[in-house]
Amino acid sequence: MKFSVRILPAAAFFAFCMLLSIRSSTQPQGDPPLVSKPNMKKSHEFGTDCGSCHKKGGEAKSAFTVSGSVLDEAREKIFKKAVIKLYTERKAQGDHVATIQTDELGNFYSTEPIDFSIGLYPTLYGSPAASEPLKHMARPIFTGNCNSCHGPKEEKLGID
Ligand code: HEC
Ligand code: HEC
Repeated sequence: MKFSVRILPAAAFFAFCMLLSIRSSTQPQGDPPLVSKPNMKKSHEFGTDCGSCHKKGGEAKSAFTVSGSVLDEAREKIFKKAVIKLYTERKAQGDHVATIQTDELGNFYSTEPIDFSIGLYPTLYGSPAASEPLKHMARPIFTGNCNSCHGPKEEKLGID
């Protein structure tokens, strides 16, 4: 009897500490990342410069590290099954840094941290059966805001 009276508070304290450490290790750090996926319809403003609002201190709460919109090859309809991959070297070489899929509205976006400071090379993938199923961007980018160039300055992104 004497034994259990002494051990009980110690055991209870130990269990309490375990519980605390489990809780703190499973607590999410900030908001969960916001990443586009097929069949999602949360986005809007197809073709616009997403990063003009989706940046730190911008009009939108979520700051995207990568964002943009994809049309079909003819640049007539939205293309909802594109995949964008980022690499450290030209033509999908070097390290593969990120993969982003378009959503149901042809937009893609992510709030996951991505380091663009070294310059990353995007490759756009369409359907494997298309005559040109993938396209590499020949130059590195230092911002993931694809629609800031593709649309106003460069040809809109398009693939079949
Ligand atoms: C004119 C400013 C503006 C532009 C341009 C813009 N957005 Fe937004 N967006 C907003 C605001 C404001 C909201 C409301 C929620 C918020 O503050 O994040 C929002 C919400 C969203 C959401 C839902 C966020 C959530 O928490 O569920 C997504 C996804 C999104 N935008 C994607 C895009 C994409 C992709 C583009 C470019 C093709 C884009 N937006 C362009 C202002 C903008
Ligand atoms: C700073 C401006 C700029 C940004 C930002 C940018 N691009 Fe480009 N992109 C260009 C230019 C200029 C070209 C044409 C020359 C070349 O390939 O380098 C191009 C070409 C491409 C091509 C090849 C198109 C073809 O017909 O072969 C793809 C694919 C592409 N970009 C995808 C992207 C994606 C995806 C993003 C965002 C992750 C992006 N780009 C961001 C300027 C930009």
